[in-house]
Amino acid sequence: MGLYKLIGPALRCLDAETAHGLTITALKSGVVPSAGRVTHASLESNVWGLPFANPLGLAAGFDKNAEVPDAMLAQGFGFVEVGSITPRPQAGNPKPRLFRLKEDAGVINRMGFNNHGADIAARNLNKRAGRTGIVGVNLGKNKETVEAADDYAKGIAQLARHASYMVVNVSSPNTPGLRALQGREPLEQLLTVVRGALDEAVQSDTPPLLLKIAPDLTDEDKADIAAVVKSTRVDGLIATNTTITRPDTLVAANRVEAGGLSGKPLAELSTQIVSDMYRLLDGTVPIIGVGGIHNADSAYAKIRAGASLIQLYSAMVYQGPELVPVILRGLIERLRADGFSSVSDAVGADHR
Ligand SMILES: Cc1cc2nc3c(=O)[nH]c(=O)nc-3n(C[C@H](O)[C@H](O)[C@H](O)COP(=O)(O)O)c2cc1C
Repeated sequence: MGLYKLIGPALRCLDAETAHGLTITALKSGVVPSAGRVTHASLESNVWGLPFANPLGLAAGFDKNAEVPDAMLAQGFGFVEVGSITPRPQAGNPKPRLFRLKEDAGVINRMGFNNHGADIAARNLNKRAGRTGIVGVNLGKNKETVEAADDYAKGIAQLARHASYMVVNVSSPNTPGLRALQGREPLEQLLTVVRGALDEAVQSDTPPLLLKIAPDLTDEDKADIAAVVKSTRVDGLIATNTTITRPDTLVAANRVEAGGLSGKPLAELSTQIVSDMYRLLDGTVPIIGVGGIHNADSAYAKIRAGASLIQLYSAMVYQGPELVPVILRGLIERLRADGFSSVSDAVGADHR
């Protein structure tokens, strides 16, 4: 029996944020055994020149301060994204701010970018300098900052040299005004500044620049984002963040909580965004598909819709890291059954 099967039920008796804190402490202390690494040639791919051993990553928000990227890589993830990190430390919203929707296999959070700030994150990442393993760094802005671009530029200046890839997160629903940065003009201005900051911060081996988008977008928003991605040379998209919508299917009492909904109820909405953005960009810009992945089928659906890589967070709340090898084994089977020799061959298969 895996460790999580043993301690998972106890963790789920605690309030969700306490359980998360204990998990990070356990991971830091090194007492968590690996859920088991699954390796197979069909899972390997090269995206942005980075060699991914498998396409399944840990989404942002789990390791906000870059405390445990290597411990999570050891759980079998093909890559880990840390953050969101803001330039200055901030406490986030009052607790409680993280809620399980058990009956729906969902989560609602209104954390509000609680994190220790870029200095601490840089120190943590510096400690792992020279190690292998793909670690992306996700940037946010401090709540009080008026000129958002300044914060992202600061994040780039402090963290880009520690990152396998950088993410501009403009899609969290818990920072007032943040998602408005997805509009055509503000997005173009922001990404132009960020691109300049990145070229200045790192002269060679510049990490790819990714933009993380919300699932709650109109067709016009999506077309605008695609146009700006092209004009500002964004290297990749992450689709999607949590949703502010509440599907009618939700039954858990916590469905009334304010914040962003993630987990199983988000799966189809986010896959649709992956599909739309893949189509709008003609498959020319790699997409990381995230939202509601909870088994091999939901993971594979994102790839077929156009995701070159995938991530998850919420499903781990219910199934623990033992889900990682389960999904990877299932992906190997599905690729083989459909006659694909690698993940890359299956990317966007639904559009052909
Ligand atoms: C508790 C929690 C905190 C999160 N914090 C962040 C964050 O700081 N930055 C970010 O870009 N996304 C954050 N996310 C969103 C996830 O990275 C992911 O996009 C979303 O949860 C959908 O994936 P999932 O359904 O597998 O959880 C957070 C999600 C959760 C549940």
